Amino acid sequence: MLHIRDVRKIYTMGDQTVQALDGIDLDIFDGEMVAIMGPSGSGKSTLMHIIGCLDTPTEGSYKFDDEEVSEMDEVQLADIRNRKIGFVFQGFNLLSRTSALENVELPMVYGKIPDRRERAVAALERVGLGNRIDHKPNELSGGQQQRVAIARAIAMAPRLILADEPTGNLSSQQSEEIMQIFQELNDEGGTVVMVTHEPDIGRHCKRMVTIKDGRVLEDELIKDRLNATIELARLAAERELELERRANRTGNTLKPAQALEPV
Ligand SMILES: Nc1ncnc2c1ncn2[C@@H]1O[C@H](COP(=O)(O)OP(=O)(O)OP(=O)(O)O)[C@@H](O)[C@H]1O
Ligand SMILES: [Mg+2]
Repeated sequence: MLHIRDVRKIYTMGDQTVQALDGIDLDIFDGEMVAIMGPSGSGKSTLMHIIGCLDTPTEGSYKFDDEEVSEMDEVQLADIRNRKIGFVFQGFNLLSRTSALENVELPMVYGKIPDRRERAVAALERVGLGNRIDHKPNELSGGQQQRVAIARAIAMAPRLILADEPTGNLSSQQSEEIMQIFQELNDEGGTVVMVTHEPDIGRHCKRMVTIKDGRVLEDELIKDRLNATIELARLAAERELELERRANRTGNTLKPAQALEPV
């Protein structure tokens, strides 16, 4: 799907230059699920912007489905983004006074997509928010807001889903729920590329690419891959145990299920 060859990105600010990417070679094939890891400032977001056709390399070649992206103009880049890529970025980028449904619909309004209402509802149901479509972002939890952002990204059934720190600022429970959605999308044939700082989140992917100083330091398949559905069951069991322990300490006779209500 993607072929990146000797890609460099140099930012120039006044008389200062920053070499954010320094000769990246990377191939990503259909059906992959890739974690991009590495220290702060190593070039992960810069690489994601190039993969996502939000920006072009200063030097090198980037082919997306055999089309040379590095020579495209703004209009062509926008076209490839709209047809092929769904974006999920940290901080959600949701409009605050707008319902979940409208947030998901909005990009399709710009694209004049005819059945956008149906697509938006289906995408929100897909991420488990069918009962929250009229809620505004401030009436949703952080994890739910991130799921709205995912619904918005997948409403047009993109071939490639790109996520930059999709679980930043979320609890372990919420992070697992997000990773469960990504794993399901990948099981259904979607290609997922995500940046994360957290090794345990990265281990939900099939492959881990480590970037350092704008270069690929390591590129390896993940052997002990985590399954988010199993991790969620484990977290639930741990919570149950903790409640039992607490009940034993205090003599509280409340059943775990009753005590557990809002999570
Ligand atoms: N628009 C820009 N203009 C100038 N320099 C930039 C720009 N974007 C990024 N840089 C610089 O390029 C380098 C790589 O930045 P990038 O955002 O890709 O890092 P990152 O790996 O995503 O870091 P983090 O983990 O902190 O998000 C940094 O040194 C940064 O300061
Ligand atoms: Mg970044």
